[in-house]
Amino acid sequence: MIEKLSASEPASEPSGGIGADLHRATNSFRMTTHIRKLSPPDAKAFQALRLEALRTDPVAFASSYEEERDLSLEKVAERLVPTDDRAIVGAFDCGELVGLAAWHREEMLKLAHKGFVWGVFVRDSHRGRGLARRLIEAVIALARRCDGILLLNLTAYANNQPAIALYESLGFVVYGRETAAICIDGTLHDDVHMALRL
Ligand SMILES: CC(C)(COP(=O)(O)OP(=O)(O)OC[C@H]1O[C@@H](n2cnc3c(N)ncnc32)[C@H](O)[C@@H]1OP(=O)(O)O)[C@@H](O)C(=O)NCCC(=O)NCCS
Repeated sequence: MIEKLSASEPASEPSGGIGADLHRATNSFRMTTHIRKLSPPDAKAFQALRLEALRTDPVAFASSYEEERDLSLEKVAERLVPTDDRAIVGAFDCGELVGLAAWHREEMLKLAHKGFVWGVFVRDSHRGRGLARRLIEAVIALARRCDGILLLNLTAYANNQPAIALYESLGFVVYGRETAAICIDGTLHDDVHMALRL
């Protein structure tokens, strides 16, 4: 976990103080966290975090908790077999899965120059520490390694400022807005469509 910062230390101290504490805290967080591709043995941890995401932030995802809660671990494990054209990436803190991001290449021949990013989520307790940025950077790097991929698309809930700011900071650009994109319990929500040229 991140170190507690001392508010009483003077900010101007060159070799100590809040600045140095923040630096140490950031470094120590980076040391306890790592990003890697998930594979079938991660099925249980993935399914638990994925269901947490669908339950806590339903408007952020097209899929729903009810659709995924009864999936067998075998089915979940199938999703986690990485290929050159798709992967689910996880962020781990002290070995515990706390963040997710995924991508896949479009399958149809005329669409295969495009990839799609989905399933981006960081557990509430771990937000604001750069994990989503590291996850998306990992996904972008995987897509770049894939022959013939020219762009990555994604959709985000139009009022999801944290997510839109995250994607924009990584070079994604909003190219369209879809009104009434999703319907949850009779309430309609707009999405924005974003793209990154690779
Ligand atoms: C969106 C989400 C993935 C961000 O995760 P995170 O690990 O907290 O994000 P990071 O710490 O890596 O932040 C990276 C950038 O995102 C943006 N960002 C993150 N949280 C933000 C906030 N609360 N307000 C504004 N911008 C924010 C900033 O641009 C930030 O860069 P900065 O720290 O240099 O300012 C996380 O809030 C989440 O899981 N939300 C619920 C699910 C969701 O909305 N998923 C996206 C589906 S499209």
